Amino acid sequence: MDSDKLVVCRCEDVTLAEVLAAIREGARDVNSIKRLTRAGMGLCQGCICESLLEGILRAECGALPAAKAFLTARPPLSPIGVIDILNAKTS
Ligand code: FES
Repeated sequence: MDSDKLVVCRCEDVTLAEVLAAIREGARDVNSIKRLTRAGMGLCQGCICESLLEGILRAECGALPAAKAFLTARPPLSPIGVIDILNAKTS
C-alpha cells in the first residue's frame, strides 16, 4: 500500500508517509510525532491512533522506552456550554 495514502490519524488526516518523515527527522516518541505531524491532536485525542503510532515507532526504531510514553491530552482552555455551541452554529 502507498504510504502517502494510508491514513494513520483520521482526526487530523495524517498519513503513514508523514509519520515516517517525522521519525526520519528524529522523533523517537509519540509526543514528538504529535508535535511534528499533529497526529493525536484530533477530536479523539489519540484514542484511535496512539497505538498505531507506537507500533510504527517500534517497527522503525525497535523497542524504545520513550516510545511507550502516552500522548498528552489537551483539554479546552475553558468549558463551553452546549447552548453556546448551538447558538454559534445558528448565527
Ligand atoms: S485518530 Fe488521531 S487524534 Fe483521533
